[in-house]
Amino acid sequence: MDTSVVDFYRHAPDYDAEYADLTADIAWSKRLCRMYARGGHVLEMACGTGRITLPIAWQAMQLGYWVTGVDLSPDMLSRASAKVAAEDPSLQSQLQLIEGDMRTVNAGIERYNLVLVPFHSFAHLLTTHDQRAALHNCHNHLQVGGHFVADVFLPDPAKLAHGLTRHAPIIEREAQLADGYNLVRSYTTRYHPATQLLEVTYFYNFYDAIGRLIANRCYRSQTTMRMIFPAEWELLLADAGFTIIDRWSDYDGTPFGTGHGMKMLFLCQRT
Ligand SMILES: C[S@@+](CC[C@H](N)C(=O)[O-])C[C@H]1O[C@@H](n2cnc3c(N)ncnc32)[C@H](O)[C@@H]1O
Repeated sequence: MDTSVVDFYRHAPDYDAEYADLTADIAWSKRLCRMYARGGHVLEMACGTGRITLPIAWQAMQLGYWVTGVDLSPDMLSRASAKVAAEDPSLQSQLQLIEGDMRTVNAGIERYNLVLVPFHSFAHLLTTHDQRAALHNCHNHLQVGGHFVADVFLPDPAKLAHGLTRHAPIIEREAQLADGYNLVRSYTTRYHPATQLLEVTYFYNFYDAIGRLIANRCYRSQTTMRMIFPAEWELLLADAGFTIIDRWSDYDGTPFGTGHGMKMLFLCQRT
């Protein structure tokens, strides 16, 4: 078990509040399921709290496909299960959740029409060895002709350069929580060009309605992400046996290399 990832994702309810306004990748994932999964099976690796898994499972109830979500973090996964139980237990007929590692899990080899790795989860794989293991495992889970897409970010040179020097935390995200507190998340980075590793320290500060800091609610959390550059991503995908059939830079289908999107959304096929 990767304890650093598990530790980083231990505040699962805060995660959902932080990303409550992120809906573009949900719509994109639903579109992919409509196009490539009808009547078949979808595997979401690193499904987390089910932020995307539940909406695609709701759609599955209408369109007739089945969804499997895999995640390493017991905290994230139990939040996903709790949401399924609270929203509509009948979703369980369309959805199974498995605690596992995308590098090694066996959720049914060659069973799937579509495998997704959403929202930068792939960046938690810190070595080429781990990246290759995960991609080969995703490939093995697909039927011949099945599709694969990972939401991988295009490294931003300005942000990486910022991480070469020490700096004060940058405020990145604000959110309102169910308990009435306001969350302000800031971060610092440290970039290691030789290993392409970006260490990120997040500071979670909580304030009440009149702006008083709730000191005993605040915490600090650290993670490391491996940067992947475009030619490297192409090589990794080819190494796993994938054929790239389309490339987008954003969820709206902007062709890769145009527009302002900072993503490498490469639609792949097991041929
Ligand atoms: C940024 S969150 C994304 C969660 C969810 N897919 C979403 O879009 O909200 C990254 C997730 O990757 C999971 N993760 C990281 N490494 C993993 C691995 N090797 N195998 C399975 N899950 C992993 C974490 O536990 C976490 O839930």
